[in-house]
Amino acid sequence: MAESESLMIFGFILGFLVCTAQFLMAAEAADADPLQDFCIADNGSQITINGFPCIPMSDVDASAFATSLLRQPRNDNPVQGSAVNLANAITFPALNTEGLSVARIDYRPRGLNPPHLHPLGTEVLFVAHGTLLVGFVSTSKRFYTQVLKEGDLFVFPRALPHFQFNVDQRLPALAISSFNSQNPGVVRIVPSLLAAQPPLPTEVLQIALGIRDQQELARLIANAPTQ
Ligand SMILES: *[C@@H]1O[C@H](CO)[C@@H](O)[C@H](O)[C@H]1NC(C)=O
Repeated sequence: MAESESLMIFGFILGFLVCTAQFLMAAEAADADPLQDFCIADNGSQITINGFPCIPMSDVDASAFATSLLRQPRNDNPVQGSAVNLANAITFPALNTEGLSVARIDYRPRGLNPPHLHPLGTEVLFVAHGTLLVGFVSTSKRFYTQVLKEGDLFVFPRALPHFQFNVDQRLPALAISSFNSQNPGVVRIVPSLLAAQPPLPTEVLQIALGIRDQQELARLIANAPTQ
């Protein structure tokens, strides 16, 4: 066998091993597989486990698998102009152990769903109405952005900071997002720094944000959104 040929085969095998390892790691990183037909969450249980305990199967009827939760907007944020209503394993117990969740996001004209990230899930967003400017930032600080029209999809990779902004001056917008986790979690970037309780030490914020002027920092904190 020629040397170049055996090098190629070696390269191929190495590539295969790396891909397999990445696949296994990704599989481990997703929500755990269910161990029974279903496990409707007892969302009032005091027992803490990885997920939620199930209510007895004999107490479950078909209505447990349906919810009207997303008929209406929820958590309206008038200052930023968006409202996120999330059906996760807590608010919609049928999702417990199923590894997915869904949200509706309503935007006022020029409304923003401010920069945030989901530590536990990848998000795919569907634009039901309107036009959205969306974007996320990678770990190498590259900004990936698009303008989406009605019917378009966009993927926000797991744990990367992202936002959506309704660019229309007059019309509202509506998006539906699904997540590959029953509880993707959310970290809101600005409130995590400026509205944490108890507050972060002033000196930490001064150095981190490059704002030496105490009064300027105090103004920023006083005006910071809490969500
Ligand atoms: C718990 O689940 C029920 C539905 O079974 C729902 O009505 C309720 O709002 C949920 N509780 C919370 C805190 O979301």
